[in-house]
Amino acid sequence: DTVPILPGTPSEVWRYKADLTKGSPGTLTPLGESYPGPLIRLRQGQRVRIQLENRLPEDTTVHWHGLHVPPDVDGQPRLPIKPGDDMTVAFDVRDRAGLYWYHPHPHGPDGGRVGFQSYAGLAGPLVIEDDIERALGLPDGEQELILILQDRSFAGDNELTYLDGMGSMMTRMQGFLGDRILVNGRPPETRDVGTRAYRLRILNGSNARIYKLAWSDGEPVTVIGTDGGLLAKPQRLPYVTLAPAQRVDVWVDLSQAEVGQQLSLVSEQYRGGMMGDMGDMGDMGGMGGMMGRSALPAGAQLDLLGLRITQRVRDGRSLPLNLDSELATPSVTAATPIRRFELGMRMMRGFSINGRQFEGATVADDEIVALGDTEIWEFVNDTMMPHPMHVHGLQFAVIGRQSFSDRRGWSGLDAGLVDAGLHDTVLVLPGERVRVALTFNDFKGLYVYHCHNMEHEDNGMMRYYRVR
Ligand code: C2O
Ligand code: CU
Ligand code: CU
Repeated sequence: DTVPILPGTPSEVWRYKADLTKGSPGTLTPLGESYPGPLIRLRQGQRVRIQLENRLPEDTTVHWHGLHVPPDVDGQPRLPIKPGDDMTVAFDVRDRAGLYWYHPHPHGPDGGRVGFQSYAGLAGPLVIEDDIERALGLPDGEQELILILQDRSFAGDNELTYLDGMGSMMTRMQGFLGDRILVNGRPPETRDVGTRAYRLRILNGSNARIYKLAWSDGEPVTVIGTDGGLLAKPQRLPYVTLAPAQRVDVWVDLSQAEVGQQLSLVSEQYRGGMMGDMGDMGDMGGMGGMMGRSALPAGAQLDLLGLRITQRVRDGRSLPLNLDSELATPSVTAATPIRRFELGMRMMRGFSINGRQFEGATVADDEIVALGDTEIWEFVNDTMMPHPMHVHGLQFAVIGRQSFSDRRGWSGLDAGLVDAGLHDTVLVLPGERVRVALTFNDFKGLYVYHCHNMEHEDNGMMRYYRVR
């Protein structure tokens, strides 16, 4: 089933039809021929060949987000698949067990098409399994739920609407924010569950929206994994802040619940706009109207998944105290070099990195690293917007987070940041300086690093780096 793309003007109004509400609302989406792409399950140590066919009227690529693969199969902007063309990619699965994903990455002379094509449905989940994870016996089968969160806006007959003319300047600034939250491409659902443990593997596949995930009963969220797989030990947080492209692995134990009870995974509607959570000033209702879409009210609690306990079952699974005692993160010393990246703004043109915007496959002198080296990259955000910074080709450790100014209204997300474990995307809030440690192993060549707010990226907040 392909999604028909109706004629439109690039970056003005794009609409296409998608049947999003089909199927039994009582069950979780089987990710077969769904609006998000199919679930790909792989095991560490496998070699995989994937055939890609571009039946779009424009260039595309398929990027394996979070995977440690050679540059030529990374689906970067410099490797487009032309309309009507096919491409076969093959790679070894080297990564740890975890939830990764894939999405397009085209970038032409007029800007990127990542936001548009991902929004249209060209993104999907990719799960890697390994022996360490298997030995833990985590909840699987119907006790393992993969949830892709995406916000969308609709017009008329279930047509998705992306940008419009009035929205484009605002969208360049804050990214696209839809007014309905979809889970696996459908309206949120309630699922019948038993009194046992469940594993929720959540991907923020939204273009720009940051979620503040919590349980409706106010209990803490138990996090067992991040972008790059399992944590060393579980962590409990009051809520989880999940920025675009990030993943979180959540354990929920319902063994003490009563039949008839219901629990919901909710997201507090956090002001994803330029104004942070500064209350009244943050009310962009009028703007939203002008832009032809209604903004979700700030502070509203949105249900993402209902769990209705209908069955008493004995499962015996309990949360492991140690998840991965061998978890290795890049280690740094006082001598580890620090590379600094200032996130800035180019008036009317969107955001920049060290004053530069995307220039294709060219790198500056300060964008070259050496194979095998470990470095510290410091992202400094002196803009009004949060930037989820992503580096291709590896997983890094978040080793420091500091604020150097007032937080411009974004401090309400602090307590939900999960900095432990391995990551490929780190949220850098306004007024923050965040340090990550990365090691450039195995593959020489070109990769990109960029903001994963897809509209920021598409408008130039992306650069190449070279491993030499
Ligand atoms: Cu999801 Cu360039 O990445
Ligand atoms: Cu990526
Ligand atoms: Cu950004």
